[in-house]
Amino acid sequence: MREIIINTPTKQYPVYITNIQNLEPLTHNGKVLVVSNPKVAGLHLSSILPKIVAKEVYVCIIPDGEAYKDLRSVEYILECAFTHKLDRNSLFVALGGGVVGDIVGFVSGIYQRGVEFVQIPTTLLAQVDSSVGGKCGINNAFGKNLIGLFHQPKAVYAYTNLLSTLDSREFSAGVAEIIKMAVCFDKEFFAYLQGACLQDTQSLEYAIAKSIEIKAMVVSKDEKEQGLRAALNYGHTFGHVIENLTHYRGYLHGECVAIGMCMANDLALKLSLISQEERESIKALLEHYNLPTSYKIADVREFWEKFFLDKKSRDCKITFVLPVHIGGVCMRDDIPKEIVMEVLEQYSK
Ligand SMILES: NC(=O)c1ccc[n+]([C@@H]2O[C@H](COP(=O)([O-])OP(=O)(O)OC[C@H]3O[C@@H](n4cnc5c(N)ncnc54)[C@H](O)[C@@H]3O)[C@@H](O)[C@H]2O)c1
Ligand SMILES: [Zn+2]
Repeated sequence: MREIIINTPTKQYPVYITNIQNLEPLTHNGKVLVVSNPKVAGLHLSSILPKIVAKEVYVCIIPDGEAYKDLRSVEYILECAFTHKLDRNSLFVALGGGVVGDIVGFVSGIYQRGVEFVQIPTTLLAQVDSSVGGKCGINNAFGKNLIGLFHQPKAVYAYTNLLSTLDSREFSAGVAEIIKMAVCFDKEFFAYLQGACLQDTQSLEYAIAKSIEIKAMVVSKDEKEQGLRAALNYGHTFGHVIENLTHYRGYLHGECVAIGMCMANDLALKLSLISQEERESIKALLEHYNLPTSYKIADVREFWEKFFLDKKSRDCKITFVLPVHIGGVCMRDDIPKEIVMEVLEQYSK
C-alpha cells in the first residue's frame, strides 16, 4: 500500500493507493451517505459496503453520465441527505468516476454549510486527477464546471483493483492525464512510462502514485489555481474546444486532452520551445497507450472562436500551457493569433 499526504493551506489528508483487500475499514462515528451511479454500484458497491463501518450507512444512486453532473442531481442528493437526517457530523462518500466525485464534493460542501466527504475514485482519471485537489464543479446550460467550490476531501481511497472493470478506452483516457503530469513536471516519470505496461498492477500503482505526488506538489503550492495549478491545463485549452465541437460525444475527455497536447506541442515547436524529437516522443507515448493524436478541424475560425468560451480565457486572452522541454512547461497569453491559426490550419488538411 502507498500513502501520500496532501498538504493544502486549508487541509491535510491522506490518499491511499492499494488493493481493496489490503486496507482497514473506513470507520466513522456518525451517519454515512454513499453516492454512486447504477453502473459502478452494480459492479462494486457490494465490495465497498463491508469496508464502511459507521452508525448508519445509506446509499444514494444518481444517473450515470456527464449530463447528470448538474443541479438536478444536487437536489436529489440533498433530498436523500435530509430524508435520512444527516447532520453536521455525517460523512458523504463518493463512489465513482470524476462525475460522482465532483458532484459529491460540491453537495457535501454546501450541505449545512459544509460537511466532510471521502473519495473512492473508480476510474483511472478520477484516481490520478479529479479526486485530489478539492475542485468540485458542476455543469449548467452555460458550460462545464461553471458552478462550484473548492472543498478538500477527508481522505481518498484509490483502490486499483476497481479499475479492472473499466473499458479500455476509459482506461486510456486516464493515461492521458498521467502523461500530462509527466510532460509538465517529471522527465524521469516520462521515461518510465515509455518503457512501462500499465496493465501490470505494480506499474499501474506506481504510475498512479507518481501522478498523485505531482498533483499534491502542485495543489500544495497553488490550491486555488492562481498560478502553477493552471499548468495542469496542458492539452486542455485545445481539448475543451474539441469536446465542445463534438458535443461531448464521440471523444472522451482524456482523448480530447491527448489531441490537445499534440496541438499544444505543435504550437510549442513553432515557437522553438521544444524540439521536433520531443514533439515526436510525446506523440509516440500517447500512441503507445492507444490515445488519438489527430483530429480534423472543419473550420479553423470556428475553432478559434471557441477558445473564448473557456472560463480561463480572461480578458479575451487565451492562456496556452506549452512544454519547454519534457518535464517543464510555461504559460503564455501573448501568442499572436496568426501563429495559433497556422497550427490549426495544419489540422484542417
Ligand atoms: N475536480 C477536478 O479536479 C477534475 C479534474 C479532471 C476531471 N474532472 C471531471 O471529471 C469528470 C470525468 O471523470 P471520468 O472520466 O471519471 O468520467 P465518469 O465519472 O463519467 O466515468 C466514466 C464512465 O465510467 C464508468 N465507470 C466508473 N468507474 C467504473 C469502473 N470501475 N468500472 C466500469 N465502469 C466505470 C462510469 O459509470 C461512466 O460511465 C468530468 O466531469 C470532469 O469535469 C474533474
Ligand atoms: Zn482533464
